[in-house]
Amino acid sequence: MTTKRQSIHGQWSSRWAFIMAATGSAVGLGNIWRFPYLTGEYGGGAFVLMYIGCVLLVGIPIMMSEVLLGRRGRQSPINTMASLAEEEGLTSGWRYLGWMGVVAGFLILSFYSVVAGWTLEYIFQAGSGNFLTATDEEIGEIFDSLLRNPGQLMAMHTLFMALTVIVVAMGVQSGLERAVKFLMPALFILLLLMVGYAMSTDGFEEGVYYLFYPDWSKLSGEGFLAALGQAFFSLSLGMGAIMVYGSYLPDDASIANTSVTIALADTLVAIMAGLAIFPLVFAYGLETGSGPGLIFVTLPIAFGQMPYGQIFGTGFFILLLFAAWTSSISLLEPAVAWLVENRGISRARSAAIAGLIAWVLGIGSVLSFNLWQDYRLFDKTYFDIMEYVTSNIMLPLGGLLIAVFTAWLMSRKAVIEELGLGEGLIFRTWLFVVRYVAPIGVVIIFLHAIGFL
Ligand code: PHE
Repeated sequence: MTTKRQSIHGQWSSRWAFIMAATGSAVGLGNIWRFPYLTGEYGGGAFVLMYIGCVLLVGIPIMMSEVLLGRRGRQSPINTMASLAEEEGLTSGWRYLGWMGVVAGFLILSFYSVVAGWTLEYIFQAGSGNFLTATDEEIGEIFDSLLRNPGQLMAMHTLFMALTVIVVAMGVQSGLERAVKFLMPALFILLLLMVGYAMSTDGFEEGVYYLFYPDWSKLSGEGFLAALGQAFFSLSLGMGAIMVYGSYLPDDASIANTSVTIALADTLVAIMAGLAIFPLVFAYGLETGSGPGLIFVTLPIAFGQMPYGQIFGTGFFILLLFAAWTSSISLLEPAVAWLVENRGISRARSAAIAGLIAWVLGIGSVLSFNLWQDYRLFDKTYFDIMEYVTSNIMLPLGGLLIAVFTAWLMSRKAVIEELGLGEGLIFRTWLFVVRYVAPIGVVIIFLHAIGFL
């Protein structure tokens, strides 16, 4: 079959629009909240290097595969996998790969929305000047008392989920595509300013050293798995978000170029976030390993001290909210596309239904910081488990299966046609990496983490 499919959901207006949207999906809390706190927990430079290695050897090749499958299937990930499998004479059971992605999307969005809710709260805190007069301890206390307050957390979680549902309901092109064009560059500039401020503190040298000097003794199997999981999480891979965005990509756009651009932009933002945050951690004598609260206690201290901190602080959390928003819509899109295709439900209704499911799942995360904080499994709260299982298990597993499908099972002709790279060196390198390096890498890291290797 060589006739090209059309997506019933529409198409990006250009290659550039796709890059914007996919970068919007990739750049989010993963870069600014999660990357620094994981780096702090797993020992700095060694983690950063492992992370970059995972992006290059696993992330970029799998991103190309995901976009390729999406554009060829031109449907929700579930139906894309079913049709492509059928086309290759394989079992339609491959659609369960799409289903796993939809489930992962719900689970990720459920806790993502809670953290995005903290960001919302911090817009109000920064806006009302609360960080200007507070001591370092008082700033820590602002965060702790937010976590102790389930009502406030629920309110913010609800507000953020509503924002997500509204945009998905409207269709991605009209609202977000336009907004992202201004907001992403603005976030970038503000982050540069923050790095500039960090350079002026006396923790800068120590921060840079911490971020880039690998102390291999700190690296564990667990840390390795965390780096791999973070590569998937930050690049939005393994659950169909990039696949569904790829299904709206115009036929003539280069998959290799767009994927590399997106991955580089995402990695640059993460490194900048690290450069903005760790110098402050050292300058103010804070703990690198303080977990998910890291940016919510370090950055407000900086905003409290820098000139025009109230304006910068408010602006920063607003932009972080937008970064989270452009990511959360991509978490919902695979499920919504499927509901529209298979259940004949309108986009607006589908978005509301899917958002409700994620919202309910998120209640557990809200409570895990207060009423349920003692309910633990392997010493992890509900929130920790959601975060761990999705990013360290479901996304890499999804990515592994995507690599196997594209590189081993799909006909060479279809792959070549879609990638449009010919059969030259770039193509052969890519094929080698998705055939061997990425899948074997994921399996080794899995085995290593559970103590088998
Ligand atoms: N990449 C997003 C971030 O870094 C999170 C995300 C994960 C979005 C998976 C979509 C799919 O914040």
